[in-house]
Amino acid sequence: MKSNKNYVLITGGTSGIGFELSKLFAKDGYNLILVARNENELKKVSDELQQQNDIDVVTISKDLFYPGNAFELYDEVKAKNYAVEILVNDAGQGLYGEFADTDIQKEIDIINLNITSLVVITKQFVKDMKKRGSGKILQLASVASKIPGPFQSVYHGTKAFVLSFTEAIRNELKDTGVTITALMPGATDTDFFNKADMQNAKIVQEGKLAPAADVAKDGYKALMAGDDKVVSGFMNKVQVAMSNISPDETVAKMVHKQQEPVNSDK
Ligand SMILES: NC(=O)c1ccc[n+]([C@@H]2O[C@H](COP(=O)([O-])OP(=O)(O)OC[C@H]3O[C@@H](n4cnc5c(N)ncnc54)[C@H](OP(=O)(O)O)[C@@H]3O)[C@@H](O)[C@H]2O)c1
Repeated sequence: MKSNKNYVLITGGTSGIGFELSKLFAKDGYNLILVARNENELKKVSDELQQQNDIDVVTISKDLFYPGNAFELYDEVKAKNYAVEILVNDAGQGLYGEFADTDIQKEIDIINLNITSLVVITKQFVKDMKKRGSGKILQLASVASKIPGPFQSVYHGTKAFVLSFTEAIRNELKDTGVTITALMPGATDTDFFNKADMQNAKIVQEGKLAPAADVAKDGYKALMAGDDKVVSGFMNKVQVAMSNISPDETVAKMVHKQQEPVNSDK
C-alpha cells in the first residue's frame, strides 16, 4: 500500500540539498512532487525513491528561469488534485564573477529563479494552506542572505530577498496554522559551484564544504518544528553572528577574501 500522507512539493529535489531533503521526506513516508528541468534526472531520482520507500513520487519538469512556468506548475498540481501539505522552495542558482564583467542575461535568469518564481510558487500554495489552516513551507535562503557577496553580488542579493520576504510572511501567518522557515546553509558540497562557474574560488578550492545531507537534516528539523530560521553548521553560525556586529564594509572585505579566485593577487 502506498503512503496515505499528503504531498511535499520540492523544487530542485533532484540534486544537492533538495535531493537530500527528498530522501528525508521519503523515509518518513511523505508522497513527493519533484520539480526540476532535467527529465532524466527526475526519472532517476523518482525511481530510486519509490524503490526504497512505499510512496508515490510525481515528477514535473519545469524551467523556473521563466516565472510563467511557476504559474503553470501550480495549475498542473491543482488540476491533478494533489494536496500539497509541505512546500520546499529549493531550486536556486548563482553566478560567479565581478558584476561589471558578468552576463546580465544570466543574472536576470537567476533573479527570476531565486526570487520571482519563488514568490509566485509561495503565493499560490500559501493561499491554499491559509484557507485550510495548515501547512509548512521551507525556503532556501543562505548565510549569503546576511552578508554582501563580492564575486556573487546578485546571488547574495537574491538570498537577502528570500530571508526578508520569509520573515515578513512568517509574521503575517502567525496563528493561521501555517509556518514558514528559512534554511541558511553556508558553502555546501553540491553541483551549485559548477553551475555558477565558481570552481576557481578560494572558498571552493580551500574552504571546507558542508555535506548536503547534514544541511538537509538541519532544514528538515527546523521545518518540522515550525522554527523561523536555521543557520546550518557551527562556523556559519559564527560568521552570521560576526556579520551582525561588524560594519558592512568589513564584512564585504572578508567575503571578498573568501570568494576571490585562487590565483588573485588583489
Ligand atoms: N551549495 C551551496 O553552497 C549553497 C549554500 C547556501 C544555499 N544554497 C541554496 O540551496 C539551494 C539548492 O542548491 P544546491 O546547492 O543543492 O544546488 P544543486 O545541487 O545545483 O541543485 C539545484 C537543484 O535545482 C534545480 N534547478 C536549477 N535550476 C533550475 C531551474 N531553472 N528551474 C527548475 N529547477 C532548477 C536543479 O535541477 P535541474 O538542473 O535539472 O533543473 C537541481 O535539482 C539553492 O537555492 C541554493 O541557492 C546552496
